[in-house]
Amino acid sequence: MALRRRARLLLLLLFLPMLRYRIFAVELISTDQNPIVQEFQRAELSCIIATTKTANPRIEWKKIGSKETTYVFFDNKMQGDWAYRAHLNSRTSLVIANVTRADKGIYRCEVVAPEDTRIGAEININLTVHVKPVPPKCRVPQSVPVGKSATLQCQENEGFPEPTYNWYRNGEALPLDSKASSKFQNSSFTVNAKTGTLVFSEVQKGDTGRYSCRALNAVGDAWCEDLVMEVYDLNIAGIVGGILVVLLVLSLTTVGICCAYRKGFFINNKQNGNSYKTPTKPDGVNYIRTDEEGDFRHKSSFVI
Ligand SMILES: *[C@@H]1O[C@H](CO)[C@@H](O)[C@H](O)[C@H]1NC(C)=O
Ligand SMILES: *[C@@H]1O[C@H](CO)[C@@H](O)[C@H](O)[C@H]1NC(C)=O
Ligand SMILES: *[C@@H]1O[C@H](CO)[C@@H](O)[C@H](O)[C@H]1NC(C)=O
Repeated sequence: MALRRRARLLLLLLFLPMLRYRIFAVELISTDQNPIVQEFQRAELSCIIATTKTANPRIEWKKIGSKETTYVFFDNKMQGDWAYRAHLNSRTSLVIANVTRADKGIYRCEVVAPEDTRIGAEININLTVHVKPVPPKCRVPQSVPVGKSATLQCQENEGFPEPTYNWYRNGEALPLDSKASSKFQNSSFTVNAKTGTLVFSEVQKGDTGRYSCRALNAVGDAWCEDLVMEVYDLNIAGIVGGILVVLLVLSLTTVGICCAYRKGFFINNKQNGNSYKTPTKPDGVNYIRTDEEGDFRHKSSFVI
């Protein structure tokens, strides 16, 4: 009983391909269901009728959007602006003369063949459009003190597939990790090729230079302009010394003004009515003729 059923099933499987052939279902094939084309080039979305009995099958192309589906080829003609940029090739394939990034997506080729036993067939084509990167935006700190950390950024948003990034210093490519190369042993940095950031954990004098970054993908590359990063010595002794000098000057000035008040210097001047007249010689500078040199030498003195 079970044996006979199995034999019948085997027979059916053997003859199924023949049966299908005799049914005359319209059948579609494609030489490439996932074409990849560079932006501004020609794209051919291959859809070929493999079998049909119908002399003039009806052909339609639709673009399947996530929100809406639009007709590309319908009622035997190109729709909308597709009329200027697309045509059919070999009866059913769709040719787009000049693809843009907006053209990427799923296209459906549909054929209706009324004289066939199974009258309809469809095939989806996934068009990918590659876009060259544009020059990336780079951010480089202008000056960083020795020993501090620093982050340089490089970003590009047009390229597809998403670009990876390389950094260059004075025209020389930097490795992803300074430790990977003996040439950069005096530096301490890492590069994230995916995000485009170059991070110095501690900048050194030798890290001063012109930095530039390159965004690269399958179809092209683009650079940002060189930007200079300068590394300066943070001289602690110098800074403390400077602050002390300023404090000294301030206290001397204060003492001087106090003394002047006590001696009545300002009050006397006001009574004479001379205080607002511009003196012929600046108060703080005395010009002295020296016999030996026969020249003017100037000497600064403190204004009180
Ligand atoms: C393709 O289209 C772009 C803009 O849409 C245009 O700048 C370019 O010239 C076109 N290329 C060709 C070959 O028609
Ligand atoms: C179309 O192809 C792209 C990349 O080739 C892929 O990321 C995407 O998921 C595909 N879409 C569909 C609906 O298969
Ligand atoms: C690293 O620094 C040392 C000491 O300052 C120096 O002798 C050497 O030449 C530097 N190496 C490189 C590759 O710049």
